[in-house]
Amino acid sequence: MNSITIPRPDDWHLHLRDGAMLEGVIADSARHFARAIIMPNLVPPVVTGDQAAAYRDRILAALPEGMAFEPLMTLYLTETTDPDDVAAAVNSGLVKALKLYPAGATTNSDSGVRDFDKVVPVLERMAELGTPLCVHGEVTDSDIDIFDREAVFIDRVLDPLRRKVPGLRVVMEHITTSDGVAYARSGGPDLGATITTHHLIINRNHILVGGIKPHYYCLPVAKREEHRLALVDAATSGEPTFFLGTDSAPHPTDLKENACGCAGCYTSPNTMSLLAHVFEAENALDQLAIFASQNGPAFYRLPVNDDVLRLTKRDAPVAFPATRETGAGPVTLFDPGFDLFWEVETT
Ligand code: DOR
Ligand code: ZN
Repeated sequence: MNSITIPRPDDWHLHLRDGAMLEGVIADSARHFARAIIMPNLVPPVVTGDQAAAYRDRILAALPEGMAFEPLMTLYLTETTDPDDVAAAVNSGLVKALKLYPAGATTNSDSGVRDFDKVVPVLERMAELGTPLCVHGEVTDSDIDIFDREAVFIDRVLDPLRRKVPGLRVVMEHITTSDGVAYARSGGPDLGATITTHHLIINRNHILVGGIKPHYYCLPVAKREEHRLALVDAATSGEPTFFLGTDSAPHPTDLKENACGCAGCYTSPNTMSLLAHVFEAENALDQLAIFASQNGPAFYRLPVNDDVLRLTKRDAPVAFPATRETGAGPVTLFDPGFDLFWEVETT
């Protein structure tokens, strides 16, 4: 197969930032993706419906003329989130999901949740509305090893929370372990899981062997190879639980190549080429549309996009820039360390 055509994909987990960074990166998503679930971890975070509406307007204003892209807005769940404000924002069609960050788990998560009991009333309202909760699934306890934080979160937080709020629809965001895959698989139709492009490609050796590679550092941190293989198996399985959420997270290069480097991989420009490479290596190119274009809309109860995206395999490697220049400084693209031959042709 030298060419495949799939319904235009969506990105079910994306960081677009704001201001000059937003202006510099938005075209990289809009070029290939029709819609994206927009993460609310700005400074200050997007907490209310009014803030989400204003952020949506800024995103659409930053979109280059002639490009189509639909930002699907989320609210950042805090311990003081008002269930009525959530219901109004959801019922108006503006907000598609809420995001749960355990406080301190990742970039700009300080306003996140410390006491999960405090958010139960909001979660109960969300269960009534059918609104998904997108979960950053890592505990933050200092005594829990960073490589174990996802598995421990499932046992200590996620499973009890789902039992406490029956009917709550949950997306386990950016799963990185076989434990995450197994739990997602066991959860029935109200439990989904996004998988990033980079976690299908790197394991923890990529970050640490032969010198520290800050551009491979993200959260949740990449785990052992056996976990990466479980993710590849899930992504290429065709099971409705698993769908693409790139977690493309731009940071200026100098804040990544830093004594305290930021977490995040910038994959929006080359994600579709990377995914075609991974799926082809698994003899699963026929599953790419299911993972990138079909399972996400089904979970979010939205239609699959009408238009298409065509990927063609070239004889020579496809060139990508090393960095995306933005008004907030250069952003280094995720480099898989191997050549890419699949090229996107949009119609
Ligand atoms: O690597 C990450 N970067 N993980 C996250 O959870 C947040 C994101 C960011 O906002 O930079
Ligand atoms: Zn993220």
